[in-house]
Amino acid sequence: MSHLFTDFQLKGVTLRNRIAIPPMCQYSSVDGYTNDWHTVHYSSLARGGAGLVIVEATAVSPEGRISPACLGIWNDDHIEGLAKIAAGIKAAGAVPGIQIAHAGRKANANRPWEGDNHISEGDPRYWTTLSPSPVAFGANLTRVPREMTLEDISRAQADFAAAAKRALQAGFEWLELHFAHGYLAQSFFSVHANQRTDQYGGDSRGRGRFLLESLDAVRHVWPEHLPLTARFGVIEFDGRDEETLAEAIDLSRSFKEHGLDFLSVSMGFSTPQANIPWGAAFMGPVSQRVRRETGLPVASAWGFGTPALAEGALAKEQMDLVMVGRAHLQNPHWPFYAASELKEENAASVLPHPYSHWLSRYR
Ligand SMILES: Cc1cc2nc3c(=O)[nH]c(=O)nc-3n(C[C@H](O)[C@H](O)[C@H](O)COP(=O)(O)O)c2cc1C
Repeated sequence: MSHLFTDFQLKGVTLRNRIAIPPMCQYSSVDGYTNDWHTVHYSSLARGGAGLVIVEATAVSPEGRISPACLGIWNDDHIEGLAKIAAGIKAAGAVPGIQIAHAGRKANANRPWEGDNHISEGDPRYWTTLSPSPVAFGANLTRVPREMTLEDISRAQADFAAAAKRALQAGFEWLELHFAHGYLAQSFFSVHANQRTDQYGGDSRGRGRFLLESLDAVRHVWPEHLPLTARFGVIEFDGRDEETLAEAIDLSRSFKEHGLDFLSVSMGFSTPQANIPWGAAFMGPVSQRVRRETGLPVASAWGFGTPALAEGALAKEQMDLVMVGRAHLQNPHWPFYAASELKEENAASVLPHPYSHWLSRYR
């Protein structure tokens, strides 16, 4: 039997296999609400057979949305639609997860296919963006954000906690805090974005404070029996990699001490000057190092979308789960494809009976 098709247990949940679908924004919402697009999309992904389906970056506050079309969880009225999605994922046999997020200085952008740049001042969809320091990301995101006050910081942390409570009410069983990809939490951690001289800046402990306190706030409201996880950008590929990795590993150990159960190892995306070594499975060794040096179970993504690479990442003990994103957009039944390629006995059983029955019959 392959590694990919063994189950995985964490706290009170068991994933039917090691395939996880990472959060992928759909940019298809109005005012943060889900609609038929999201409901069908997530059910379809779960029916494909993955063990875990994580709903896209869902904003903890209106100004924390990447774009005006992003999902939200800042309002109790958002719960009903999200609950339908969680139920749909669960009914298809996968564990329903959700990523809660604040986009910081990268917020208020146009959809990727409509420019991916900041919305202009004067546009009715414009809002003020927030970040640890008044430093723009650069490239297509040129807006200088407003420096967060201590009150803004407490409010953002309270927003994360309130969002976690709503996620639980909606029926999600796996919570992922978005501490990656140059959004608000990553910006606090990053030397590229954080120039503060107060307790939230300076050395890596200061730059990590916002993340650790946000985790604490969420830990307080998220139940012990369900996985509390984070996606964290542990490397920027900016020439300062050893230092960033060492700082990130040190902070991740603190996350573990503060009750984090699992880490999704990703990149920082805090500077457009990064020189990312794109290629198949390139995050494998980084993931392995974080796994070894923190003792946390981990996952990683970026180019593991062929069955052999996904299986290899597990066989090499680089990670405990493999995140397979875009390959699922190409083929929502990717786990069936992987099971067939890896010569799993009765590969069709990865799919629900209304599909699998017919794939095993009339051979
Ligand atoms: C359409 C799209 C939307 C994405 N949205 C998110 C997101 O909401 N949160 C996040 O952490 N990563 C996001 N990502 C990154 C993916 O989770 C994943 O890391 C990336 O696609 C690389 O994995 P892959 O090579 O298997 O596709 C997104 C990627 C894509 C393609």
